[in-house]
Amino acid sequence: MGRVEGKVAVVTGAASGLGLASSRRLAAEGASVVMADINAEQGSSLAHGIPGAQFHQLDVTREEAWQVFLDAVTAAYGRIDVLMNCAGIVRLASIEETSEADWRAVHAVGTDGTFYGCKHVLPIMKAQGAGSIINMCSTASIQGAPGVFAYAASKAAIRAMTKSIACLSTENGFGIRCNSIHPYNMATPMLADVQHQVRQGNPDAAAGMDKIWVGEPEDVAHLVLFLASDESSAINGAAMVIDNTATVTQAVVMKDV
Ligand SMILES: NC(=O)c1ccc[n+]([C@@H]2O[C@H](COP(=O)([O-])OP(=O)(O)OC[C@H]3O[C@@H](n4cnc5c(N)ncnc54)[C@H](O)[C@@H]3O)[C@@H](O)[C@H]2O)c1
Repeated sequence: MGRVEGKVAVVTGAASGLGLASSRRLAAEGASVVMADINAEQGSSLAHGIPGAQFHQLDVTREEAWQVFLDAVTAAYGRIDVLMNCAGIVRLASIEETSEADWRAVHAVGTDGTFYGCKHVLPIMKAQGAGSIINMCSTASIQGAPGVFAYAASKAAIRAMTKSIACLSTENGFGIRCNSIHPYNMATPMLADVQHQVRQGNPDAAAGMDKIWVGEPEDVAHLVLFLASDESSAINGAAMVIDNTATVTQAVVMKDV
């Protein structure tokens, strides 16, 4: 018997990286996984190779699209036990370099997308009296991250939303758990793209970058599986880091020497 046998899990940002690895892990442990992403071509082709998974195209920035999507999932499966809000984008820019368009784009996917997902899955999970919401944050929401200013702000908003939902649920006996995951650098297309941009813009930074710890998408998928399963039934409102001590030991402020 799988660790999430019989559960219905929705994962956004499932066509790549951490959402994809988590979808695979959940499906391997017995969940029916609904993989959602804006990238339909990649998402549907990957979902075909995952037994127990199905793909739906979703642009998480559109509230009405969320409603249509969740209605379709409940019509098909009858319930939603797990929602992992994983879709995200990043812009490499300090506060002074961040344009209004970049600020809004990062928040549209991260902050708004997570808000809409949580808001519209709540009535479904409330009616069931159970559910696990897993929101993808970052160590950037704990330490700050001057080079990805809008991204860090968005992740901090998601962190606060997570705790508010968890407290609301506990106060009202909804039976819903809501936790956030805070990875440091994980080997995904998003990180590869960021590293490429850093190397191009600042070749001197490349040597230092190569020394930084990088985890694997499966490291995140293991934690997602735990939070999705009943093994984590006492964990609610937690901000769980996957960073191999980065938030404990690493200074964020680099000084010229
Ligand atoms: N990789 C890391 O080092 C790292 C570290 C901390 C947190 N994270 C977070 O983990 C999550 C996944 O990141 P990743 O590294 O797997 O990135 P990724 O770029 O590999 O995957 C992100 C996915 O989100 C999808 N997406 C983008 N905009 C969307 C939209 N409007 N609607 C639906 N889907 C959309 C993309 O199509 C893509 O499939 C993000 O929220 C990211 O901020 C990543």
